Amino acid sequence: MKRYYLFFLLFSTGILSVFTIIIPSYTVVMQQHRKSDSSYTNGYNQYNNKCAFCHQKDGSGINGYYPPLYNSDYLLKDKKLIAEVLILGLMDTIIVNGKTYSGIMHPALGTDQEIADIFNYMYQEFGNNAQSISSLEISKIRKKGKETKRLEIYK
Ligand code: HEC
Repeated sequence: MKRYYLFFLLFSTGILSVFTIIIPSYTVVMQQHRKSDSSYTNGYNQYNNKCAFCHQKDGSGINGYYPPLYNSDYLLKDKKLIAEVLILGLMDTIIVNGKTYSGIMHPALGTDQEIADIFNYMYQEFGNNAQSISSLEISKIRKKGKETKRLEIYK
């Protein structure tokens, strides 16, 4: 009886330890996978080349001049609106996290895929993980945007 008990004890701790090793390493692998996929890397590079100058590498912006992207309530408003900001630019008076900004944001230059990668990087990285967009959606918004006056300002 004692032998069975010992066997059972060793068996169950064995199973437990296998799980405690497998589950955390699986999560780490999944996280690394997300961070190393080519769309994420492209978004990171594009963001740092095209946006970080004003919005800063960490998305904190510059108080009073360039609004923050990190934890921005404006970002959570409407995915289509934000895609339009990237494609068509923005020259308006906006309130971001309670502060007013009246600047000019030029349209981001790049292919539909590059814009989608920047968009997805921005939402993944700056605490707004809720949204993602495809290059097809970007292309549709771009086509529609050509009919609006807004783009003409920035031609
Ligand atoms: C030359 C400076 C500059 C650059 C470069 C720039 N922005 Fe902006 N951005 C602004 C300004 C200024 C505003 C506010 C515009 C207004 O007041 O109408 C803004 C607004 C925004 C907003 C909406 C407000 C918010 O904070 O949520 C988003 C999103 C955004 N920019 C993302 C980007 C991304 C992504 C890039 C890179 C492709 C980029 N910006 C490049 C200056 C810049």
